[in-house]
Amino acid sequence: MCGIVGYIGTKKASPILINGLKKLEYRGYDSAGISTIEESEISILKDKGRVKNLENLDGINNLKGTVGIAHTRWATHGKPSKSNSHPHMDNSKSFSVVHNGIIENYKELRDFLQNNNYKFYSDTDTEVIPNLIHYYYNKENNFLKSVNLACNDLKGSYAIEVIFKDMPNNMIVAKKDSPLVIGKSDDETFISSDIPALISFTNTFYFLNDTEIAVISKDDISFYDSNLNKISKDLTTVELSSDSADKDGFEDYMLKEIYEQPKAVRETIGTSLNGTNINFEGLSLSKDYLSTINMIYIVACGTAMHAGLGVKSNFETLCNIPVVVDVASEFRYRKPLINEKTLCIYISQSGETADTIAALKLAKSKGAKTIAITNVIESSITREADYYVYTHAGPEIAVASTKAYTSQIVLLNIMALYFAEILNSSSKDRIENIKKEILKLPEKLEKTLEDVSDIKELAKKIYSKKDMFFLGRGIDYTVALEGSLKLKEITYIHSDAYAAGELKHGPIALIEKGVPVISILTNPTLVEKTISNVQEVITRGATSIIITNQSLDCSNFDNIINIPETSALLSPIVSVVPLQLLAYYVSKEKGLDVDKPRNLAKSVTVE
Ligand code: AGP
Repeated sequence: MCGIVGYIGTKKASPILINGLKKLEYRGYDSAGISTIEESEISILKDKGRVKNLENLDGINNLKGTVGIAHTRWATHGKPSKSNSHPHMDNSKSFSVVHNGIIENYKELRDFLQNNNYKFYSDTDTEVIPNLIHYYYNKENNFLKSVNLACNDLKGSYAIEVIFKDMPNNMIVAKKDSPLVIGKSDDETFISSDIPALISFTNTFYFLNDTEIAVISKDDISFYDSNLNKISKDLTTVELSSDSADKDGFEDYMLKEIYEQPKAVRETIGTSLNGTNINFEGLSLSKDYLSTINMIYIVACGTAMHAGLGVKSNFETLCNIPVVVDVASEFRYRKPLINEKTLCIYISQSGETADTIAALKLAKSKGAKTIAITNVIESSITREADYYVYTHAGPEIAVASTKAYTSQIVLLNIMALYFAEILNSSSKDRIENIKKEILKLPEKLEKTLEDVSDIKELAKKIYSKKDMFFLGRGIDYTVALEGSLKLKEITYIHSDAYAAGELKHGPIALIEKGVPVISILTNPTLVEKTISNVQEVITRGATSIIITNQSLDCSNFDNIINIPETSALLSPIVSVVPLQLLAYYVSKEKGLDVDKPRNLAKSVTVE
């Protein structure tokens, strides 16, 4: 939920660190801070608010040090404030630390340290770390050992950067369950929570595994395991253009990413479906293995979970295997009935969602094979899953997920076809027809995005509403859920999604004059039934908005948004686009920060 950046090299650290923080602000933006070392003195500047606020602090230009650490925060323990912002130092001002993660035993450690005469000046869990390091340094008189001993005491998740005033040319970094990458160029080393923040500086990286430690100096990097045994690491080169993480002339990242969907879907298709051949690099499951599978679990959070819902029926009808889609934070605590006959698929755009990764580890511990679907190269989930397959949507910076969702659904549809071919569980004609439909999706997305004036007009009509409802049946219900989440998270308008047939069982009591009800109708076999539900809400005064690819008698509806027709199994990839745009334009009408909505962060790396 937070972003950390570090630099050690020959240039002034502060502008490099600020630049890195700006690229990590989507991970959290409640407060920001920076520490640098010069002449064995640690300077620290930090404050509540965005990185811009930090950049304008008096003294920021006086930070001359070439070694530094920086942090942008999403508050977990302790409200957003100057005292709770990172970096945090020990009482003697010898160590400065930035941290991404949650220390679950921080109260116990705080008590221990207070009993050893340490004082605390913040409400954060993080503040125990520098003081614990100082405590061990007094005993060991060794920077590496004291950091390692402190880390071994921490329960929970951490990615930390530590600088020490008596070793001004060194930095120590360590991680467990939170992301951290080390970028290397000639005589400089960069550290960050993720690759896109560093790609403009370097495309060669080291990756730490959980509980490993790196000691970074201007000249080299040494790696250690949790027992301080020295280990070697290879440099990985990552192909990612730095301009792909910029706005390309769009007002907001979210709008850019909505319009990137044809390209994102095209590139995602291209990595696994070539003509009629399907091939997933790094995923090879035999017919013998797949034939033993009696259950597929698809586990994720938020939009990624909605993508799972959007492909559930496809896997079931094509592979003839029952599919359960579950929320990761529920799955991991419900003692799911899984074993070696269960195949578990985890979807995570960031590849860093704590609940999703924990749910994956649970499944592995019970003997299930695990496949991760992620959009971030070398993200943590790729190091936990048995197999991983990338969507190729490009960096998704806006907190509200759009192109990742459509890319996840298209990739998983291709995976369902892949399994069906191996299992021979569907007719060749059916499989080939769906492949043809998939290959047409990018142009259908382009057509959907050609003219969005009706959606902009609609947003002007409804942006001041306090409640909105989304309806759908079957696969359209899964899109209703996603449309409702998009609206909630970037417009702050209360909305709910219902299976249309459920209205009569209670929710219709909420319908009153002028309440917008947005209905998705793409499944020809269910359209008539859903129209009856729409009539019911119109009778009670609702403003009816229809998203459809069917030719309907529309005389009775207030707003119709037509989209290109697709096979029912693939319709979410197209029908979601008007809902993404509607949420976007409503948010713009309300003058909100679309890319960084309040209380949220792009990657939920804490429970
Ligand atoms: C989606 O718009 C939200 N930002 C959120 O629900 C997100 O999908 C969820 O946190 C899962 O993130 P992940 O895909 O990176 O795991």
